[in-house]
Amino acid sequence: MATGTRRETFLGFQPPAIGEEEIASVAETLRSGWLTTGPKAAELERRFAEYVEAKHALAVTSGTAALHLALAALGVGPGDEVITTPITWPATANVIVHVGATPVFADVRADDLNIDPEHAASLVTERTKALLPVHLAGQPADLDPLWALGLPVIEDAAHAVESAYRGRKIGGLSDAACFSLYATKNVAAGEGGIIATNRDDVAQAVDDLRVMRRGHGSRYDIAVPGYKANLSDVLAAIALVQMDKLERHTEIRRRHVAAYDAAVAELDGIEPLARHPEDVHALHLYIVRVDAARAGATRDEYQAAMAEENIGTSIHFLPVHTLTAYRELNPEQPSLPVAEQAGDEILSLPLSPAHSDADVEDAIDALRRVHERFRGSI
Ligand SMILES: Cc1ncc(COP(=O)(O)O)c(C=O)c1O
Repeated sequence: MATGTRRETFLGFQPPAIGEEEIASVAETLRSGWLTTGPKAAELERRFAEYVEAKHALAVTSGTAALHLALAALGVGPGDEVITTPITWPATANVIVHVGATPVFADVRADDLNIDPEHAASLVTERTKALLPVHLAGQPADLDPLWALGLPVIEDAAHAVESAYRGRKIGGLSDAACFSLYATKNVAAGEGGIIATNRDDVAQAVDDLRVMRRGHGSRYDIAVPGYKANLSDVLAAIALVQMDKLERHTEIRRRHVAAYDAAVAELDGIEPLARHPEDVHALHLYIVRVDAARAGATRDEYQAAMAEENIGTSIHFLPVHTLTAYRELNPEQPSLPVAEQAGDEILSLPLSPAHSDADVEDAIDALRRVHERFRGSI
């Protein structure tokens, strides 16, 4: 039986968990005179590499830049194809276009909405230069069958700071893993990204591409016509404090996810995506599928009803191949039925260490009320 009443103030879907420590760290950095890349960025790289158990970590301006530079560092370019997933933020596919290559979308698995390795394998041609899986919500994609294809693998690890695949941390497992420090992410700096790799050649190429120059002083040289994608110390100062808080924040995420799991188990037609016990899930997002036939209403109707209850939700993600830019890029794009159905059914519930247990209870109460109302109309 649903209880409670509509929340008085709006509950943001994923507010950043920033406190006095981050503010002090930024102030200290500003007083130090380092506005651009300096000791804080270097410290972040050291800490991050250690945390994700990779040999190298290179800090850049965004997760998008991390993916872009990783593709460029691996020599992906015009005429090449890169196989990726449609259930991702468009940046994952955009960067493939940016380097002049063609994104090829594989369908996803129905349980966790990560790339379907069998479908990916069926799309490999002599032009395939790399594979770009995404660890959606923090659940690692199934990497073994992707590695078995013998192609370079770049992981979109934007959601996967704490994730581990079969007992090994996401970070140094493939040719590169690209993390995001965007405002909503588990380690949030506002903007920023990190490329992790065990490959010295990839790390060197990314370094050349992100700052353009080798060496210091007036007698500079450039190895390649690079970009400008180095991370500012001001943002690295925030990320470093967020790393300090990661364990505490993960604890909060775990508690909130457990509360959601218990609640949705009682709600017919509302089901969370699979989290595989053999992996570590970073709990970046809590995504449910709304089965309209059983839940009494569509995902869009649920989202609107939750907004009326003053609860913010989001969608991760609309299938990229159905968005205008990609429909125009490839009018022959075959249908990807699992991704397309998921795109109509998925809803992300509020999840952030900035939320209190009471906030999550408010979101759950609202979902129960909305469910009861919609189910009453079946
Ligand atoms: C799956 C995924 N890939 C890539 C990105 C891009 O990261 P950024 O916003 O840091 O450029 C994001 C989100 O922001 C994302 O969610």
